[in-house]
Amino acid sequence: MVIKKICCIGAGYVGGPTCSIIALKCPDIVVTVVDKSKDRIAQWNSEKLPIYEPGLDDVVKQCRGCNLFFSTDIATAIREADLIFISVNTPTKTFGNGKGRAADLKYVESAARMIAEVATGNKIVVEKSTVPVRAAESILNILRANNRPGVSYQILSNPEFLAEGTAINDLLNSDRVLIGGEDTEEGHAAVEELCWVYEHWIPRERILTTNTWSSELSKLAANAFLAQRISSINSLSAVCESTGADISEVARAVGLDSRIGPGFLQASVGFGGSCFQKDILNLVYICECLNLPEVAAYWQQVITMNEYQKSRFSAKVIESLFNTVTDKQIAMLGFAFKKDTGDTRESAAISVANTLLDEGAQLHIYDPKVEKSQIIEDLTHPSVTEEPERVKSAITIHKDPYTATQGTHAIVLCTEWDEFKTLDYRKIYEGMVKPAYIFDGRKILDHAELIKLGFQVQTIGKRLSRPNLARVWGSSSQIL
Ligand code: UDX
Ligand code: ADP
Repeated sequence: MVIKKICCIGAGYVGGPTCSIIALKCPDIVVTVVDKSKDRIAQWNSEKLPIYEPGLDDVVKQCRGCNLFFSTDIATAIREADLIFISVNTPTKTFGNGKGRAADLKYVESAARMIAEVATGNKIVVEKSTVPVRAAESILNILRANNRPGVSYQILSNPEFLAEGTAINDLLNSDRVLIGGEDTEEGHAAVEELCWVYEHWIPRERILTTNTWSSELSKLAANAFLAQRISSINSLSAVCESTGADISEVARAVGLDSRIGPGFLQASVGFGGSCFQKDILNLVYICECLNLPEVAAYWQQVITMNEYQKSRFSAKVIESLFNTVTDKQIAMLGFAFKKDTGDTRESAAISVANTLLDEGAQLHIYDPKVEKSQIIEDLTHPSVTEEPERVKSAITIHKDPYTATQGTHAIVLCTEWDEFKTLDYRKIYEGMVKPAYIFDGRKILDHAELIKLGFQVQTIGKRLSRPNLARVWGSSSQIL
């Protein structure tokens, strides 16, 4: 088989960018991305794409209408494709067995059933969503149990390692592409077909082929390792704050060991994003099901430490503001889970905002890319508050960081957007209630300069001097 047509089910953060790059690099292949959401597809076909990802607009503009199409006609795209990616969402289950931990595979299952219903001929079905180990087997069971004469399937696992905000570069210059398949002649042939697609731009030595289950587990493992590094450095940031060590210096010293390396050692208010927490919870659940409680407890601790970091940061904000934020005006700079994305899934900002709102604060939120409606949805969702109307009246979303900070008692910085480094903090200080506080949850600001301007500055993993208040408030004003 030579792959001429690819269909991708799911036009989200994974399916959209991945297929755009495949279309860009494989002009001989027609790529159709389908989604059940009419709105999402309309946005992919419009000037304003549904996701913000640096560099994505250019790629889409170059390929759309040539060999890249976005459509809601899922059945036709499946029928015509030689290879089908399943890139639907796999959220953590919110009810029933495995609630709060297991991945909800209902979208994967419905995509598989749709393929079973309409497919004709030979199809390679590629699982691209992050799914638990052995999910490929479930997809295969659905497909083969509903098989019709003349139709045959090969299932591959091809996990996505792109990070939001750098997705285009990650796709163009992948450290590795991982493809897992069945250990049969047909399985090997299908793996080779997908290798051929990636070989249009990825050197062969960076394409790893494994069995399906190794591929599935590798994705969970890679995310668990990355998140574990962040939780490790965050745990030490608490030690730094109590001892006078500086977590950036520690991270640098540790990261220079070539066996350890410098990546993912940036202490922060806590990791977010659609993958880390979900994948680790999934891993924990799988370990429990496999009767491996020690392994489950080991990975669970990575999440526990992340929760601790988020609540430790919120608690320090409240404590520093004289133990009460009731009716205080607090500016939040950044709401996305990291810079260069408009995605807020599991963002630490949500947790910090919730705590401050529970304590009666008035929040003024500014993020360069997150939509107002998304912030309101995140903060009024039934899973986070029973009082959506009260919350709505306590938050104001701003289009500008200067109006967001005007008249506030404190600034809480939750996302490391570059533009926050170069704001006019003298002007901001002048417009704030004194003493004016800044809580830098990302360690990106020039703290010495801010202190010179008059700010009370606190950050993660480092004590900063606060001469005046230290004297007045004594030990109760412990510095973060
Ligand atoms: C992650 C994986 O990196 C990617 O390979 C996988 O395919 C999907 O999950 P993503 O969640 O998009 O990607 O972003 P990532 O850059 O990994 O950041 C995740 C979170 O960790 C963010 O909240 C980020 O701010 C935080 N982080 C990252 C830190 O707090 N410190 C660090 O040193 C690195
Ligand atoms: P991810 O970050 O994993 O890409 P997203 O939520 O951004 O997740 O995107 C997943 C997309 O998959 C959504 O746009 C959703 O509408 C779509 N989707 C889910 N189930 C199906 C399905 N059965 N058929 C078509 N599209 C689906």
